[in-house]
Amino acid sequence: MRLFLDTANIEHIKHGVRLGIISGVTTNPSLVSKEGKVNYKKLVQEICAIVPGPVSTEVISQDSAGMISEAREIATWAKNVVVKIPAGLEGIEATHALAKEKIKVNFTLCFSVNQALMAALAGAAYVSPFVGRLDDIGKNGMQVVEDIMLVYKQYPEIKTEVIAASIRHPQHCLAAAKTGAHIATVPYQVLLQMAKHPLTDIGIARFNDDWRKVMGDVKNI
Ligand code: G3P
Repeated sequence: MRLFLDTANIEHIKHGVRLGIISGVTTNPSLVSKEGKVNYKKLVQEICAIVPGPVSTEVISQDSAGMISEAREIATWAKNVVVKIPAGLEGIEATHALAKEKIKVNFTLCFSVNQALMAALAGAAYVSPFVGRLDDIGKNGMQVVEDIMLVYKQYPEIKTEVIAASIRHPQHCLAAAKTGAHIATVPYQVLLQMAKHPLTDIGIARFNDDWRKVMGDVKNI
């Protein structure tokens, strides 16, 4: 499973890329707004220049014609830009039109297997089931990811990749990997948590103590 960062924060993206484990970024209007009143195009282009893989950025329009014209413009901003189109009938129509023009779509705000199936049929490059938001309303978000993977596997002709999104904690990420999801997009804080283990910290401290007791401050090189 690949990891994307779910953020529009440049410093966090740079750090993720430096770690060598982030191969894409997803943003949405809420995440972009967290960065203040920015020049949207410039911000997206900056992210696209930092990240070696796809960078998803979302349209604001709610009708298919508006989504299509916004997406056409966004698609000119960078080679690795992917346009996020929200689920729903308008979104399906826009996805189909954009796929025909070879514009890559991340079909977002997906909450059901049927929506994911329609995304694939319309030609979306990615589909983003929102795990945490389903959990928030008492549903099992990861079950939807698992079911999408199950259905997609029945039809090898489906090339749409599944991005487990709305990831809230490391356990979500682990569970997403177990479903075989192609990608999990994680907030920066979750990425940091994933790298941590208390026994790792205790182990490093103990090794250093043992070394210093005998060797003092002498380094081993
Ligand atoms: O990738 C979608 C994600 O940004 C939504 O996350 O935590 O706002 O539900 P959240």
